[in-house]
Amino acid sequence: MIKAVRGTRDLLPPDTALWNFVESAVRGVFRTYNFQEIRTPIFESTELFARGVGEETDVVSKEMYTWFDNRGPRQEFDEALPKVGRAAARMIKGSGTDEDRPEVARPASTMEGRGDSLTLRPENTAGVVRAYIEHKLWDRGLNKLYYIGPQFRRERPQKGRYRQFYQIGAEVIGPASAGSESPARDAEVLEMLATLLDRLGITGWNLELNSVGCPSDRAKFNEALRLALQPVVGKMCTDCQRRAVTNPLRVFDCKVPEDQPIIETLPRISQFLDEPCRTHFEAVKGILKSVGVEFRENDRLVRGLDYYTRTAFEFTHGALGAQNAILGGGRYDGLSEALGGPAAPGIGFAIGEDRLVMSLKETAEGVLRKPDVYVAPLGAGMNSEAARLARELRRHDLVVDLGDETFRLKKSFEAATKAGAKYILIVGENEVKADAFALKNLESGQQVSIPRAELARKIQAAG
Ligand code: HAM
Repeated sequence: MIKAVRGTRDLLPPDTALWNFVESAVRGVFRTYNFQEIRTPIFESTELFARGVGEETDVVSKEMYTWFDNRGPRQEFDEALPKVGRAAARMIKGSGTDEDRPEVARPASTMEGRGDSLTLRPENTAGVVRAYIEHKLWDRGLNKLYYIGPQFRRERPQKGRYRQFYQIGAEVIGPASAGSESPARDAEVLEMLATLLDRLGITGWNLELNSVGCPSDRAKFNEALRLALQPVVGKMCTDCQRRAVTNPLRVFDCKVPEDQPIIETLPRISQFLDEPCRTHFEAVKGILKSVGVEFRENDRLVRGLDYYTRTAFEFTHGALGAQNAILGGGRYDGLSEALGGPAAPGIGFAIGEDRLVMSLKETAEGVLRKPDVYVAPLGAGMNSEAARLARELRRHDLVVDLGDETFRLKKSFEAATKAGAKYILIVGENEVKADAFALKNLESGQQVSIPRAELARKIQAAG
């Protein structure tokens, strides 16, 4: 049997109804904050992520699905097919087993004879900023964009962590003259998130907030970290030993329990913020307090991607277990320039939709709309009559399930009950002649004969 690839999954009904509920609720909230949708490709040049997200991050150095795209896909497929196993896994990068980790994606977008290096997007901020630059979106002033779609990371799968997962994200980006740098934008985005979670009925979330400063603060911070790490780094994991040399700030991404007491003793970015960054952070917090959005300062929070400046945040939720970050985001004032664009301060976030749906599950019942009525044709020739009736009822926005004339009455009742329908409507020869139909309430067992013209109103009235 061919199964879904490890770390990917099928989303099936009734869960898909929850996903749709979430997506339409967030679209509604985005609309009231004047955000508009952007759709970017799900694969991009590898270089975009290497330059945008940062080569030292776990995402870029370990987790990207990257391949070279020089030959026709058919030829590559034909060659790979007979060699299923390690050799083929190595050819098609990223499809190997856990021991057979793919090579680190290199920033060079083209290697001699191997064509373009492409990558399935592991996140969407870099793609949105690329589109901002490519389409000169600064002409529109402040851009408030949102997206909903799949992302791909080759992480070890576990509850709440997948290799294909879905993000609902938003980015506010534009020239500083359009107000993109203002702390008012940070606070507005955070307040929108609080509204969004409340609207979905998610309670018990915590907003963790920090400022990671600007590049000059970080240079000083990295230097201080390097010094502080020197005497202790030998006792830390190999990843931290590498980070201590290349990008010490990334030591805060470490999840190894034995390293945590050492990390606790390290300097914090909050000690290195310059005056403008400090003032910006105070202003964000001030607005949040005045609009009543609660937060907790966490000066260990540095986020796993290199582009962040100033405000950085995560919303966590207790019910999620180890993977408790329901969403994360922050400011990225230098990203556009790092990608060759003009100065364009920005701030955004991405919600892990898989995790959001997980935290909603308990309250899910009300979201699922069961059929209002099951239309049961009874006897030969009744399919067309039943189809006509179903069409009329659906025009009244009723949810209608339709049976088949070959079903005996008992089977129709079973199907209607299984679908969770409120009513069953019998369409037999006598009913058609009388133009009045037997409507039975499946819960109370009460059955009445209702003229065709009154059917929709009667079913709607049951609410
Ligand atoms: P991120 O923190 O890497 O940020 O991801 C955002 C959220 O995506 C996480 O909080 C989590 O809920 C979800 N997520 C990440 N990886 C997985 C996974 N393997 N399985 C399930 N869910 C996952 C970003 O991606 C930034 N682009 C956010 C941003 C937008 N910053 C500024 N603008």
